[in-house]
Amino acid sequence: MSETVLVTGGAGYIGSHTAMALITAGHNVVVVDNFVNAKADALHVVAELTGSEIPVIEGDARDVDLLIKVINEHDVTAVIHMAALKAVGESVEMPLEYYSNNVQSATATLEAMREAGVYKFVFSSSATVYGDPESCPIPETASIGATNPYGMTKQMIEVIIRDLAASDDRWKITSLRYFNPVGAHESGEISEAPLGKPNNLMPMIMEVATGKRDKVMVFGDDWPTPDGTGVRDYIHIMDLVEGHVAALEHLDAQDGYEVYNLGQGNGVSVFELIRAVEEATGLTIPFEVTDRRAGDIAECVADPTKANDVLGWKTTRDISQACQDAWNSQ
Ligand code: NAD
Ligand code: WQD
Repeated sequence: MSETVLVTGGAGYIGSHTAMALITAGHNVVVVDNFVNAKADALHVVAELTGSEIPVIEGDARDVDLLIKVINEHDVTAVIHMAALKAVGESVEMPLEYYSNNVQSATATLEAMREAGVYKFVFSSSATVYGDPESCPIPETASIGATNPYGMTKQMIEVIIRDLAASDDRWKITSLRYFNPVGAHESGEISEAPLGKPNNLMPMIMEVATGKRDKVMVFGDDWPTPDGTGVRDYIHIMDLVEGHVAALEHLDAQDGYEVYNLGQGNGVSVFELIRAVEEATGLTIPFEVTDRRAGDIAECVADPTKANDVLGWKTTRDISQACQDAWNSQ
């Protein structure tokens, strides 16, 4: 069944790639974004590449009346809620802004959906809810315990949507816990283009590769990992967004609330990622090892078995493809 999907925060990195995957799979997309961390450009490119119209409404996902209007006017049948502030360090300095923006935009979106009679909801959660995991790979059944306000907003929203789904069986709700999305659409026409200084490793490496910065600061080489640098589960953005299509299309067959990890299932260290970018670009990426970053953890790798088995979704692109596509998009 073809859905008309409202993507809140859909102008951002993951949202614009999700729009591409949804349209490619035969769905329609409507976006509400307040452009605090994105521009509409990427969506214009997606519309052009897919030959599809994407209504983009500038507005805040905390605005219930606006969302009701958008859902009704566009005959929205499902919502993917991505609108959020996402910088961990900033969330420690501005917790109120994070709780207000992230939690309120989720409750407002759900309220608007209920008013409009739409009950299919996919939520952008994060592996950050696992905090410092006891062991890797991490299954969905692992204990959760976010260690910063950003992660706590994701954890709180997961509690809210679990309780909501339990209160009324019309709701079909899925929480997707993303590991570390990297790369770009194969066309190279849309990319991860954070406004301001990048917080994450791959966009930082890209800024060094393009000469915007001198070197990558590597946050510690004394972690208990094979080469001493942090290990993460980097997942190609197109694999990640195809996971959203699979989750959306599975909702009709689902009862209530489910949680899925979206990750590769493989750990890659900071040094390995730098080397993979060097191989993809033919460049040398200068780096300097510095102190550990506050709040960092040694390792975070997904067990994606549940999404593989239940959603029939698997990653098909490796880290070298992600590096090539990230570079191509620059
Ligand atoms: P992004 O910043 O590129 O996209 C988020 C979008 O939400 C932006 O376009 C921003 O303008 C918009 N936005 C923020 N607050 C809003 C509000 N109140 N109303 C309307 N629009 C609003 O980030 P992204 O990487 O594309 O992340 C998308 C989602 O995935 C977020 O919920 C994020 O927390 C989550 N996530 C991201 C990662 C990651 O590493 N990128 C990992 C796990 C989870
Ligand atoms: C990866 C590795 C760093 C930058 C964060 C959020 C998480 C999720 C994804 C949204 C770590 C190292 C990084 C740099 C470095 N976001 N690093 N130099 O920390 O796994 O996750 O983004 O939900 O919530 O916490 O990703 O890309 O910041 O770091 O050495 O300049 O790279 O120490 O080992 P992280 P990251």
